[in-house]
Amino acid sequence: MECSGKVTPQLMMAAGTAVIGSLQFGYNTGVINAPQHIIESFYNETWHHRFSEDISHTTLTALWSLSVAIFSVGGMLGSFSVGLFVNRFGRKNSMLMANVLAFIAAAFMGFSKLAGSFEMLIIGRFIIGLYSGLSTGFVPLYVEEISPTSIRGALGTLHQLGVVVGILLAQIFGIEAIMGNSTLWPLLLSFTLLPAVLQCILLPLCPESPRYLLINCNEETKARSILVKLRGTDEVSEDMHEMKEESQQMMREKKVTIPELFRSPAYRQPIFVAIMLQLSQQLSGINAVFYYSTGIFHRAGVSQPVYATIGTGVVNTAFTVVSLFVVERMGRRPLHLIGLMGMAISAVFLTVAMALLDHFSWMSYVSIAAIFCFVAFFEIGPGPIPWFIVAELFSQGPRPAAIAVAGFCNWSANFIVGMGFQYVEQLCGPYVFIIFTVLLLGFFVFTYFKVPETKGRTFDGIAAGFRQSGGHSADKYSAPEEFNTLRGEDPDL
Ligand code: GLC
Repeated sequence: MECSGKVTPQLMMAAGTAVIGSLQFGYNTGVINAPQHIIESFYNETWHHRFSEDISHTTLTALWSLSVAIFSVGGMLGSFSVGLFVNRFGRKNSMLMANVLAFIAAAFMGFSKLAGSFEMLIIGRFIIGLYSGLSTGFVPLYVEEISPTSIRGALGTLHQLGVVVGILLAQIFGIEAIMGNSTLWPLLLSFTLLPAVLQCILLPLCPESPRYLLINCNEETKARSILVKLRGTDEVSEDMHEMKEESQQMMREKKVTIPELFRSPAYRQPIFVAIMLQLSQQLSGINAVFYYSTGIFHRAGVSQPVYATIGTGVVNTAFTVVSLFVVERMGRRPLHLIGLMGMAISAVFLTVAMALLDHFSWMSYVSIAAIFCFVAFFEIGPGPIPWFIVAELFSQGPRPAAIAVAGFCNWSANFIVGMGFQYVEQLCGPYVFIIFTVLLLGFFVFTYFKVPETKGRTFDGIAAGFRQSGGHSADKYSAPEEFNTLRGEDPDL
């Protein structure tokens, strides 16, 4: 059952080029954090210029929240449209085409200051959100489809690694001395152009997904020759066999549309699991940190909030690398569980630190440590796993529809946090993270009872696990042991 798990240069080149899309998503998630006040001043000046009065605090909060969160509205639409592209144009061409959006967005954001228009910035954020939404579907789909089973989780984590490196770059470039100042902030926002150019140059050199070629286009010879290059060996018969089995299985299933995912008993359980995992990622509160940490640190009495924000980016990146190396040994379930529980505990520490700040000034250090731990635990599991596990939970037929639904849910929750956090924080003060603690504990319980292990198993094997459990019989299906017996050998990274 196990396929060759060699990391060949061709495989790394293809995965590396794809995750430039993830980097873009991360960059644009992190880029508006550090320069918030500088760009807010631009909003104020523009307002003043138009209406000869200062912008009110309420309007500014609304405009800023909108500028942050409209990115996720774009993401919702983009991720929901993934299915329209991937089967019609193929995985590779879909990624290539999406770059048009990155070019347009960079132009809107880059020229907004010159044009004296915050509307242009907001439109640009929406368009780059569309691009990012598409990327969160395209990249995990492509990477999972080209990966050998035994290192699929590790390679799937590369998507998240791209995201976190993007966030870190944005945080570093956002330092005042680099581009986070009143002159260069338009450049900071339009920097997104460069990765787009790079991806357009590299993608034509990468192969199409062999799984797509074989299963969707019936091009066996092409699929085989790409596999030979990706695996670095002529011996690809096991991979071919496994794909053909999946193809036959797909012929037996009729084409799966989004409503059918919810109607068919065979898909209802896995789509429910996929949605809950996405919600666990976003409603953990992670983007309260990545959108607003500079403000949070400021209120927690940290004297150099921008540097503390960069610290979150460094911790974030470091722990994604940890996850990359342990995900194939420990499996998805334990890492997700450890991550959720760790985040819940860190959120409690953060709340205590914020609440006691007036009494003990050293509590600001506790709050930094708590946020660092919160982020570290996130990247152990809830960060990377939900993104790639959806592709694992479904076979080729329903996979694009499932990725679209899951992505849409992820981005909707991202929007709620991005838009609502500042308001809820104004209401709850230092206790705002308690809300996330409660949600995290809920998701912990759900994962414990309902999420199966997928490590080391073929796509078809995982789908068969759901079918065997009768789809709707949650108790039987959820027993992790039953899934583990279906597991392949422990792969070695
Ligand atoms: C995940 C989330 C994204 C978040 C990032 C933080 O990719 O989907 O919203 O900003 O992790 O590392």
